[in-house]
Amino acid sequence: MEDIQLKESEYKSDDPVRFKDGSEHSTLSPRFKVLLLAAVCVVFGLVVGVLIGFFSRSGGQVSEETGFGGLLTEGESWVPEALMSEVDPSRIERYLRKLTEKPHLAGTEGSYALAEYVRQTWLEQGLDTAHVAPYHVLLSYPDPDKPSYVALLDSNDDEMFRTAPREPSLDLDPPANISSVVPPFAAYSPSGIVEGELVYVNYGRTSDFARLETMNIPVAGKIIIARYGKTARGRKLRRCQVRGALGLIVYSDPADTVGTGPAASGRPLYPEGWFGPGTAVQRGHYLYTGGGQGEPLTPGYPAKDYMFRLNESESEPLPTIPAYPIGYNDAWHLLSAMGGPDAPSSWRGGLNITYRLGPGLQASGRARKVRLNVNVNRQVRPIHNVIGVIRGRVEPDRYVLLGNHRDAWNLGGVDPSSGTSSLLEVSHAFGAMVKRGWRPRRSLVFCSWDAEEYGIHGSFEWVEDFGKILTERAVAYLNVDMAVRATYSLRGRASPQLAPVLLEAAKKVPWPVSAPEGKTMYDVWRKRTPEVEGDPDTKPRVDLPRSGSDFTPFVHRLGIPSIDLAFFQDTSMGIWDYPLYHTAYATFHLQKKIIDPDFVFHRAMSQLWAETARSLADSLILPFRLSEYGAVIGGMLEDLESRYGSQLVARGISLDWLTSAVNNFTTVVETFDAEIAGAKITDPFVARMYNDQLMQLERAFIDPQGIPGRKFYRHTIMASRLYSSATFPALGDAIYQAVNNNGDTEGAWRNAQKQLSIITFTIQSAANTLIAIDLTS
Ligand SMILES: *[C@@H]1O[C@H](CO)[C@@H](O)[C@H](O)[C@H]1NC(C)=O
Ligand SMILES: *[C@@H]1O[C@H](CO)[C@@H](O)[C@H](O)[C@H]1NC(C)=O
Ligand SMILES: *[C@@H]1O[C@H](CO)[C@@H](O)[C@H](O)[C@H]1NC(C)=O
Ligand SMILES: *[C@@H]1O[C@H](CO)[C@@H](O)[C@H](O)[C@H]1NC(C)=O
Ligand SMILES: [Zn+2]
Repeated sequence: MEDIQLKESEYKSDDPVRFKDGSEHSTLSPRFKVLLLAAVCVVFGLVVGVLIGFFSRSGGQVSEETGFGGLLTEGESWVPEALMSEVDPSRIERYLRKLTEKPHLAGTEGSYALAEYVRQTWLEQGLDTAHVAPYHVLLSYPDPDKPSYVALLDSNDDEMFRTAPREPSLDLDPPANISSVVPPFAAYSPSGIVEGELVYVNYGRTSDFARLETMNIPVAGKIIIARYGKTARGRKLRRCQVRGALGLIVYSDPADTVGTGPAASGRPLYPEGWFGPGTAVQRGHYLYTGGGQGEPLTPGYPAKDYMFRLNESESEPLPTIPAYPIGYNDAWHLLSAMGGPDAPSSWRGGLNITYRLGPGLQASGRARKVRLNVNVNRQVRPIHNVIGVIRGRVEPDRYVLLGNHRDAWNLGGVDPSSGTSSLLEVSHAFGAMVKRGWRPRRSLVFCSWDAEEYGIHGSFEWVEDFGKILTERAVAYLNVDMAVRATYSLRGRASPQLAPVLLEAAKKVPWPVSAPEGKTMYDVWRKRTPEVEGDPDTKPRVDLPRSGSDFTPFVHRLGIPSIDLAFFQDTSMGIWDYPLYHTAYATFHLQKKIIDPDFVFHRAMSQLWAETARSLADSLILPFRLSEYGAVIGGMLEDLESRYGSQLVARGISLDWLTSAVNNFTTVVETFDAEIAGAKITDPFVARMYNDQLMQLERAFIDPQGIPGRKFYRHTIMASRLYSSATFPALGDAIYQAVNNNGDTEGAWRNAQKQLSIITFTIQSAANTLIAIDLTS
């Protein structure tokens, strides 16, 4: 764990060698003068040596005007091309084959074995260091001796129907051991047997529960059945729990895993195709992680051996009622037996039944009630992150981090091993450059996270452990989780100032197959996923990195500029998560026969990831464009005005100060960008000063007190909102509550005013980091 604290010996060797003041010489004895002369010769030799060191390190390119040599050179121009052509799809295929042979669930031997494999591979590839960073976190596993299930009971309480204990094995080419995968379960569910009447709640969103309430369908004392999608598993379960439900069954509806529209019936199901068969079941964690607290028993602190741990009963994210996931073949038996009024039309999924709300089952059928029997255990177990480093040449204490999680619910054919195989190819390519004598200006840090599937624990614990260092030194974090789930277009998420460097890299990467939209990734991306629909000159769409994978702790806890990349499907099919997400069928076969047989999309991902990281690690001045941040904040102000302007006026609340702060910020970032674009950098300290300001700007949006009600979510711009809107998260939520509050309206409006002043102050503070030297702004 100490390896991340990179040595600064290269700086020390650059220290200027000082001669003594001449006036001292006259007072010395002749014998001493001889010694001094000898010393001067030695020192002179050292100076020459140091200068030779400078010159050779920069590959002979010396900045002649300054004499600072390699301290002021740009990255070497042969590297981008050489780095990208090093990426080899057949090697990625071999990595993926190896990674998907056996299950690698967090906290098991399989994940530890791959941790060692990744560490060894990185050392063989030529990284300077690679080590395992372990933590002890609360995990959750099904009881191997007592399968969980849902059953329909008749009037004698005899079971008439019972759900399948696991997905059946399939004959695959190449074969995959599906029976080695952990059976479907809801991670962190308590164990328990509950029996009662069923109620259907669509996706289990807050609005879905509200609709049930208006229809007088009770939730308390019932077993709820919901379909996967639209909202996190843990949120569905928490909404059931707070309303007094007995338990929750979640199923994958064909509308969401085969899609909708006339084309849906012709879509090939796995193992012939990409779409979800009725036996496939989505695993996943059911923590209520809205708070961003990391591992459940050590909120805010790393789960090290000596750390104080909460009791499970004190842990906010842990659920207290049981949950269990099933596939749509089994769900068909439950839903088709249901009674009660018909579901609203938008609640009807893709099954060949009449969707009913309940409560209870049809009087005409034999089934009388439902039994939910869940056997799941929580255990504290070790997890293993792996961290590998290529040390920087000039600024080893500045880190460009690349990360992907390694743990999987299944064999990992897509999530996450398509990303892990791409990461191993990126590290291979950089290692090959190092073997050719190259070194990046800044350090590259490769991260293989464990236990992401259980709630992003591996990266959260590491970020908690090294938070102080990362706050001071991390330039950017580049995440890839599922590299290739489909091959329609790229989904890019990025902190605004990083979007330009990502788009520049995308212009250099060829689109892997012939496409009418163009030859480069940039061309196809902007046409298929445009920022502005219908604009022929549109840029590719890049979203903000709100939450969902290992970038979350970097962005939301520390304010480290981040990127998240994935190849995605055409979402007009009506499918958001890919159909086999977290099912036992996400095998090597799925990639090799269905998604990316030649691994050319994997190659493209590795190339994009590598070139973006290289540019960030090797450019003299960080390739950040801060005016992009100004545009995002300006857009949030516009959204606020158009959405709530009249209500704010009616309450006598002025947006003048916020507008002033946004204008100041926008002006300052534009001035700063222009100053850097026009600057001729001749002094390494000036380069470092600019780079520090560029790197630190995002930290200025971190409020140490956190977003209201979510103290570990501290990013005042990126935090996800509780209520949908595109404005500043805490302020938007506060105004929403004030506008929609039936109770304490005065208190809600006072909170809105407080949030307005906080975001005004925060934006002005961020502007000050780019101007204030004399602390008067
Ligand atoms: C498949 O996995 C199961 C459970 O881990 C194991 O018992 C079995 O030997 C494996 N089969 C093959 C062909 O590897
Ligand atoms: C926490 O657990 C300990 C040991 O099991 C027990 O003595 C204590 O009462 C628990 N505290 C709370 C608040 O649940
Ligand atoms: C209805 O759907 C179920 C579940 O997918 C399937 O098993 C059954 O064969 C279907 N029935 C008809 C008549 O299509
Ligand atoms: C914006 O800048 C102006 C000019 O420096 C200053 O007077 C004003 O107070 C700033 N706005 C805020 C919100 O601090
Ligand atoms: Zn993942």
